[in-house]
Amino acid sequence: MTGFDFDSETRRRLGYKLIDRIDEYFSSLPDQPVQLPSELRTFADLTNRLPELGENAEKVLDDVCSEVVMKGFHVPSANYFAKIEKETVRWIGERVGWNKPFDGTFTSGGNEANFSALALALAAHFPQAIEEGVAGIGARPVLYTSAEAHHSIDKSAGLLGLGRKALRRIPVNANIQLDPSHLEAQIGQDKSAGLVPFCVVATAGTTNSGAVDDLVALAAICKRHQLWLHLDGAYGAAAIFSDQHRDLVRGIDLADSITIDPHKWLAMPFAAGVILTSHPETLQQAFGVSTPYMPRVATQKTSGPTPLDNFQVSTQWSRRTNSLKLWLTLRVHGRQAYEELIDRQLKLAAYFANCVRSSQHFELAAPQVLPIVNFRVKLPGASDEQIRVVNQAIVQEVTHDGRRWISTTLVNGKSVIRVMVISYLTGHRHLEDLMIALTEAVKRQVSATAGRI
Ligand SMILES: Cc1ncc(COP(=O)(O)O)c(C=O)c1O
Repeated sequence: MTGFDFDSETRRRLGYKLIDRIDEYFSSLPDQPVQLPSELRTFADLTNRLPELGENAEKVLDDVCSEVVMKGFHVPSANYFAKIEKETVRWIGERVGWNKPFDGTFTSGGNEANFSALALALAAHFPQAIEEGVAGIGARPVLYTSAEAHHSIDKSAGLLGLGRKALRRIPVNANIQLDPSHLEAQIGQDKSAGLVPFCVVATAGTTNSGAVDDLVALAAICKRHQLWLHLDGAYGAAAIFSDQHRDLVRGIDLADSITIDPHKWLAMPFAAGVILTSHPETLQQAFGVSTPYMPRVATQKTSGPTPLDNFQVSTQWSRRTNSLKLWLTLRVHGRQAYEELIDRQLKLAAYFANCVRSSQHFELAAPQVLPIVNFRVKLPGASDEQIRVVNQAIVQEVTHDGRRWISTTLVNGKSVIRVMVISYLTGHRHLEDLMIALTEAVKRQVSATAGRI
């Protein structure tokens, strides 16, 4: 097995077995009851510990078929999957380090998770806003994030009726982290102007650079001003799955809510996001509604506790079982597979950052923290615009044959080339080849530019 891949023989064996199980299932359907008799239905929590090591994939497939599929509703919305989601959320929350009540829900990705988090922050600070709208708050609520934070925060502020202008973008320091002193100054200014600060959105793993904000410092500011701290850890919060590297997100447990996208650093296929909160009651406050037309699970006679319907704690109503793939991956490969993945990718990125440092043609443009490397062409005397044009031409040259993909972006307003090690299949040889291609391209581009600077 390489990374999360099976060898070809295992893949075929599992695939054929799955086809057999699907065939058995559909062949049995004409005589299959819709669900178990009520006295056998259980909504009790699953209590497996987060697996450290993976187990035999065929056994997991058998377990899923017999325990989950066969005991669920025999319609595509198999109700039993909610248990899997609950258990996966618990595993993630335990890795955050929360030993207090928490809850969460799977989302379509980071955008929905960030949107949900702002809805929770609003519900916590202005409970009346859920019924009355933000206009009923009386004064203008404002929130804060770094200049480098993801634009899903702007989108969410707009969609929640706060207005995109309510989002204060705070400058970053040399490490591309939200600058705590600027933040505190802006909060003071806003309060003096009669506005109502209610939330700070920190980032663990900025999209451009992989920078991680100083979560401990931001949590202290939030505590002082009684603000909700949301952590957009869509990418970087995955570091909690590594014992060795979890310090990269030190202070994550101080957040009131956390976004994490298993489809980023946890190697899941699209789509899988998660929103977690250490104020579980806010999920119901923000998303709960009562309807006469949804099945009343709570009134059914079942053994054990009854689950909360997901539509009560989520922006979604009908939903995909996005948790299943992470739960299965953890069952089949175990947390230690992530320990290895995270360590390997950090080492690969550090290796590539070193190649850049020792190159005569390129320079690092930001510290490498997570497996993202920002760098730019060295062009003494060139303007920012000339550097941007050459960076872009280099990227165009190394990507045009379709063999590899890297990109350009702006960090702190300046052009950088961005290399992110995200595939679990990437190894040294791919980075060596990339560096060779970059070096050939930069030589050609620099000599084409010579005389114009
Ligand atoms: C830091 C960050 N937050 C949020 C998002 C949005 O996530 P998604 O694309 O899963 O909705 C991204 C996407 O790249 C991101 O990098």
